[in-house]
Amino acid sequence: MRIVLLGAPGAGKGTQCKRIVERYSLVHLSSGDILRAERAAGSELGSNAQEFMDSGALVPDELIVEMMAAAIAKAPENGFVLDGFPRTVNQAAALDKYMAGDGRKIDAVLNLVVDDEVVAARMTGRRSCPECGAVYHIENLKPKVNGVCDNDGTELVQRPDDTLEVVRRRLETYHHQTEPVVDYYRSSSTVYDMDANEDVEKVSSLIFEKLGAFAPAV
Ligand code: AP5
Repeated sequence: MRIVLLGAPGAGKGTQCKRIVERYSLVHLSSGDILRAERAAGSELGSNAQEFMDSGALVPDELIVEMMAAAIAKAPENGFVLDGFPRTVNQAAALDKYMAGDGRKIDAVLNLVVDDEVVAARMTGRRSCPECGAVYHIENLKPKVNGVCDNDGTELVQRPDDTLEVVRRRLETYHHQTEPVVDYYRSSSTVYDMDANEDVEKVSSLIFEKLGAFAPAV
């Protein structure tokens, strides 16, 4: 199963992807996580991406498409969930072209729809584990011990692009450059719109209801 998860920053893409990959035994390919790993490793790609990410702008398409094609090429046969990619119509067209080269296509597009004011509250309260990538929220998804990851005991951190000012710019970028990707897919695939203002469990059950038509849980 090959899935694209679309939605504004803070819509809950990362949170839901972790649940989807567990249930269907897929690989989670997050362009944001891959970029942050490149930055942490001090690679040329990471340093080229840094300025764009910190300001809330998009990293140029050509860098992203090459990076994500390499990640998809390594994905196992069972499939993957794309999180944060494609984020422009150019990226979506490049993905279609790349997949068609191997006779493959995207099976389902899930569009998480969320209000801007909900996003602001979620992002400024988000904390994540720099070690395993687990995501928490200071109010609605608390770790067992305040400020510490449940999985490995690492101290949780706040992403530098989760300040209110940068979140506002990321939302603007989303409305201008990424919303048209939803329309791109509407003309070629089935897009499932989900109300992502709901709580985490409710959104998961909406997603699993739709994905059940494509594959059984493992
Ligand atoms: P990226 O890392 O992809 O960030 P994003 O899309 O802005 O999304 P987030 O990871 O911030 O949010 P999310 O939807 O995953 O929400 P989460 O589940 O964590 O990209 C970062 C940057 O990299 C971009 O700005 C850009 O510069 C660059 N980039 C990446 N991909 C690119 C591309 N393709 N092209 C160009 N540039 C690219 O949830 C957020 C919080 O809310 C958490 O605390 C969570 O616990 C909580 N929460 C989640 N769901 C719920 C719920 N239902 N109810 C209550 N709380 C919830």
